[in-house]
Amino acid sequence: MEILEKEVEEIRKSFEKAEREVRDYQSFLKLKEEFLGKKRGKITNLLNLLRTIPKEDKPKAGRLINEVKEFVENRVKELEKRMEEIRARRKKEVLDPTLPALIPEIGSPHPIRKMTQMIEEIFLRMGYTIEEGPEIESDWFNFEALNIPKDHPARDTQDTLYIDNEMLLRTHTSPVQIRVMQKRKPPIKSIMPGRVFRKDEPDPTHSPMFFQVEGLLVDRGVSFSHLKGTLELFLQTLFSKDIKIRFRPSYFPFTEPSAEVDISCPICRGNQKDCRTCGGTGWLEILGAGMVHPFVLRVCGIDWNEYTGFAFGLGVERLAIIKWGIEDMRLFYENDLRFLKQFSRF
Ligand code: PHE
Repeated sequence: MEILEKEVEEIRKSFEKAEREVRDYQSFLKLKEEFLGKKRGKITNLLNLLRTIPKEDKPKAGRLINEVKEFVENRVKELEKRMEEIRARRKKEVLDPTLPALIPEIGSPHPIRKMTQMIEEIFLRMGYTIEEGPEIESDWFNFEALNIPKDHPARDTQDTLYIDNEMLLRTHTSPVQIRVMQKRKPPIKSIMPGRVFRKDEPDPTHSPMFFQVEGLLVDRGVSFSHLKGTLELFLQTLFSKDIKIRFRPSYFPFTEPSAEVDISCPICRGNQKDCRTCGGTGWLEILGAGMVHPFVLRVCGIDWNEYTGFAFGLGVERLAIIKWGIEDMRLFYENDLRFLKQFSRF
């Protein structure tokens, strides 16, 4: 009887150990055979053993053996169920190498960033460096140093977002010209991209925050024809070789002479009276430019008898709107993925 008790205990233990080692269907079948096999299964052997037990011990022995038999049978049933589930799942997961691959979703640069990069690339190839300045600027850098005196209409509180009497949100990237000229001696050849702010209500063509890229070249013997050639090369590279460029006389306090630059409409090429991009005029105003005013050079400690320079400032949104035919500027800031995703292929 004692021997039987020990035997039962050992079978239980060896079953639990073997159960832990089951890794797949094959090893499960082996385990099932080892314990419940009709001929040499360990439990089957126990039942055969019962015959040799003396009569008075039989009820107790029978209970013992039955207990372990049920225990093993239940656990085997459970295991079998789990194995079947795994097998069924595997069957469904048939590998089909002809299916298209699952392509992970990858983000794309924002169209504003994309356009800024395109502009930067063209000027980097022409040997320009990229400079940056603060978005919170002093009145002096934003206006005074640029020859925009206190009573100039450009300083109107209607347009400028002031922080206090002295500090404001820059209304253009031109103050970075001053910072670059103070920091470095000519020759200077830089572009200055960045965010600018004006007190405007958002509508299809206005935003209280937008992006500009400023350009500045200062050296000996720089003339207006250098400015013309540079902008022509830039605009034809960005749009297309057959685009025409037009300079119109204009006024900026910090350049003299000053010009506004138009390109021939790349959408209708001047052939459509009702073109929505150019309004049927055939021309699109693109940027402001001019020769750096001697006042500005002097403020920055550059000898204006020895050096001359040109500067220009362009709106990034405006170029993106023309390049990609976008109808409403507000789309840039709404973070609608249906809009933003369309630029991943550019
Ligand atoms: N700062 C001017 C603007 O925002 C553009 C400009 C830059 C004009 C440089 C001339 C030279 O309108």
